Amino acid sequence: MSYAGADLLADASWDWSDRFAARAALGGGEVTAILSLAGSPDTITFSGGFPAPETFPVDLVGPVVADLLAHDPARTLQYTPTEGLTTSRAAIADLVSATQGTRPDPAAVLVTSGGIDALSLLARVFLEPGDQVVVEAPTYLGALSGFAGSQAEILGIPMDADGMCVDELERVLGARPRRAAPKLCYVIPDYQNPTGLSLTVERRRALVQSCRRHGILIVEDVAYRELGFDSAPAPSLWSLGPDVVLQIGTFSKILFPGVRLGWAVGPHEVVAAMAVAKQNSDQCSGALGQQIMHAFVTGGYFPAHLARARALYESRALAMLDALDRQMPAGMQWTRPKGGFFVWLTAPEGTDMARMAARSLEEKVAFVPGSPFYPDGRGTNQARLAFSSVPVDRIERGVRRLSDLLEAELRGASTGPRAGSSLRTGG
Ligand SMILES: Cc1ncc(COP(=O)(O)O)c(C=O)c1O
Repeated sequence: MSYAGADLLADASWDWSDRFAARAALGGGEVTAILSLAGSPDTITFSGGFPAPETFPVDLVGPVVADLLAHDPARTLQYTPTEGLTTSRAAIADLVSATQGTRPDPAAVLVTSGGIDALSLLARVFLEPGDQVVVEAPTYLGALSGFAGSQAEILGIPMDADGMCVDELERVLGARPRRAAPKLCYVIPDYQNPTGLSLTVERRRALVQSCRRHGILIVEDVAYRELGFDSAPAPSLWSLGPDVVLQIGTFSKILFPGVRLGWAVGPHEVVAAMAVAKQNSDQCSGALGQQIMHAFVTGGYFPAHLARARALYESRALAMLDALDRQMPAGMQWTRPKGGFFVWLTAPEGTDMARMAARSLEEKVAFVPGSPFYPDGRGTNQARLAFSSVPVDRIERGVRRLSDLLEAELRGASTGPRAGSSLRTGG
């Protein structure tokens, strides 16, 4: 027989990476690394932006699925239209209406397989190599690697305590002809990843006006919008400028990521083009997840579910801030988020947080150093701490270990006397 196993194996020594397309090397590695850090059970994991499993509606999902299988199995287990089930699109329109005060036309809602699917569809529709995209600096690194994967040029606009510095964006845009304007402006206005900061109402209005004037589509990522601790968030950018905003939402943080489910809402022609792109990727998002989400929205479960999730995340944020206030060495600064999953740390200039992250892993504490969140490698003295999926007692322990490491590092780096605790900045 010429098909003997030994013959077949003899030539099986290709290194297939020689044959990869150039784009396979663009972007993405950091996200994989972060997801893998979350796997070690004895490590205190401040790295991934993971929702707390305690918020998963375990008691409800079983009965909801049983009911769907009993009464609507053909739809629940079947492919769906690429845009999503009509019922899912209407449920998302209802949810957006309840939380943002304006109801989108369900025909302008695309059901996606999470936020990242919406971002990659959008990149496919808009971006040619060399096109420009504006982002907050720092920003969500999944978006950065997605845009980089399209060979876009990424312009980072600095942030301060009020979110993206829109006047700086206006200055950058004003200095170039309209035909050279960036195509997209990606913003996370509420409890941003990675800083936890939010964009003020005045800046939201200014951003909408500026992008409308320059013909730039705002991509508003509302991943954490419903997870504010005390007050309602400012108006969404989409509600302020539906003509110039494509909103991307996800159920990963507010329901559970085990169904990869999200949405895009915006100008009809953009949503229609994204649906065509989706036909060439996963064709449709899973019906089972859409049906669970629909039952959740129409059953009126979201308000109580979100209230419980917000209370849990607030208790973890407060525990982290309290531990940082008590334990961090002088010279460290950090943000004080009012919602979402993250605290953003800034160490004195010159501190190498990538090296600290490697050291910290040896002490069984994981966090993400700052520079992958910037398009240009800045942020080497910064880091993101996610409190979302860590119980309070482990937050205390993790911050103590991290503070000890930083204290030793800063003491070693300092030539002068160590500042006393009264000089702690508390960011
Ligand atoms: C700002 C932001 N957008 C989108 C996503 C992606 O979420 P999904 O799980 O829906 O793809 C994340 C996940 O961390 C995020 O932080």
